[in-house]
Amino acid sequence: MPNYAMILAAGKGTRMQTKLPKCAFPILKKPMIEYIVEHVEASCIDETIAVVGHERKVIMDLLGNRVQYAIQEQQLGTGHAALMTKELLEDKEGTTLILLGDMPLINVDIINKILESHDKMNNDLTVVTANFDDPEGYGRILRDNYGRIRAIREDKNATEAEKKTKEINTGVYAVNNKLLFEMLGKIERDPLKKEYYLTDIVELMADTHSVGTFTIRDPKHVMGVNDLYAVSQAEKILRDDINRELMLNGVSMINPETITIGHNVKIEGNVTINPNTTITGSSIISEGAVIGPNTEIHNGVIHENVHVKHSLIYDSEVHERTSIGPFAHLRNNANIGRDNRVGNFVEIKKSTTGSNTKMSHLAYIGDTECGNNVNFGSGSVTVNYDGVNKHKTYIGNDVFIGCNTNLIAPIRIEDNVFIAAGSTVTKDIPKGAMAIARGRQINKEDYSKNLIKPKPNNK
Ligand code: UD1
Ligand code: MG
Repeated sequence: MPNYAMILAAGKGTRMQTKLPKCAFPILKKPMIEYIVEHVEASCIDETIAVVGHERKVIMDLLGNRVQYAIQEQQLGTGHAALMTKELLEDKEGTTLILLGDMPLINVDIINKILESHDKMNNDLTVVTANFDDPEGYGRILRDNYGRIRAIREDKNATEAEKKTKEINTGVYAVNNKLLFEMLGKIERDPLKKEYYLTDIVELMADTHSVGTFTIRDPKHVMGVNDLYAVSQAEKILRDDINRELMLNGVSMINPETITIGHNVKIEGNVTINPNTTITGSSIISEGAVIGPNTEIHNGVIHENVHVKHSLIYDSEVHERTSIGPFAHLRNNANIGRDNRVGNFVEIKKSTTGSNTKMSHLAYIGDTECGNNVNFGSGSVTVNYDGVNKHKTYIGNDVFIGCNTNLIAPIRIEDNVFIAAGSTVTKDIPKGAMAIARGRQINKEDYSKNLIKPKPNNK
């Protein structure tokens, strides 16, 4: 029988106090709900529906057609949110797994095990529970004297005695799909919070159907991220897990608690990562690379034996043995060849370089195609913007660019060119030429005495 998933993500997330809707808020730079969808996609679920409402465009733009959508116009509680999927799901035979959009640490193993247990126990409803040392804020599991689950009591509605229960509702349920919609129709609005609680299906089914529980061993995977402090806790948990896995696979990390690696980053063995380094997005770091300290890489492809320190790399690629930094900034499709040197205070944007090219200090290279063995002197600038449009610079192979040179784009510098320091180059330079474009120096003999006066005596 098919399995369906329903992800409830329509809520305002009032406790977050952020503009972004809660389920779109990033954990290690990736929206919470994307983690959930990724794990659901890898699991034995056949069809997924996200319930969206508040700021739904943000979430729909994020997920595109990876899921189907049900709209909850008014946020009247989790029970009401689940009911919004009625049209899409009601007539289907099978099991529905209900997930919350604020539990980014769930994983594919847990999802598959819940569904396995639900089938094996022949349950109509399986409530996924966990034991929390600090259960505050979560719904509590109420059991009878035989240990059977009877109800879930929300924190706000619980008595002092009920609040002592450490077994909580994770908010995940596996449920017979047809029965689910029968029960959702029966939920009444909670008088205290004026919401329809999905949790009420437990009490509605406890006497008449087979209701069981599945307890998660490691509760950290099912924490609900309701506020910005919980965001930081979730990030810490995820960061520790990712770093541990990488270290066990041969990635050396110095001071790992200061290193943040995103969930989709790939790092090969024999890589060293130094302190205060963040690597996120779909970055790839190849063998022998040394990254950091104080480095940020987002969507960067770093090839073998590249060294990067004190630098920023966004949406860019760096080829073998090149060294980047300190204090370099690569962005917007910079593609740096092998054996390059990109040094202090160099910014490279939307440009490619061949092999053995050097820009060691203080340079800006934008919208440029540059060949092999080019030396950019300190202070070289490709002047790509005329105040209205951006223009391209072409530089061939074996070119020497003297210090403080401006290349006013659009411009072509052919192979084997030498440009004198301090030139402002406005015309193309042909192959093999030497160009000098600066004011000629005049020395006026014995003239400085007219300008440098002896200091007056202050006494
Ligand atoms: C919920 C559970 C609680 C459980 C906890 C686990 C209920 C009533 N309570 O509480 O028992 O311990 O999760 O983390 O179910 N949502 C909608 N529409 C709404 C309201 C919420 O789609 O009208 C979505 C939210 O976007 C969110 C999810 O449902 O992703 C859970 O809502 P939230 O407000 O976080 O519930 P909790 O108070 O955490
Ligand atoms: Mg929550």
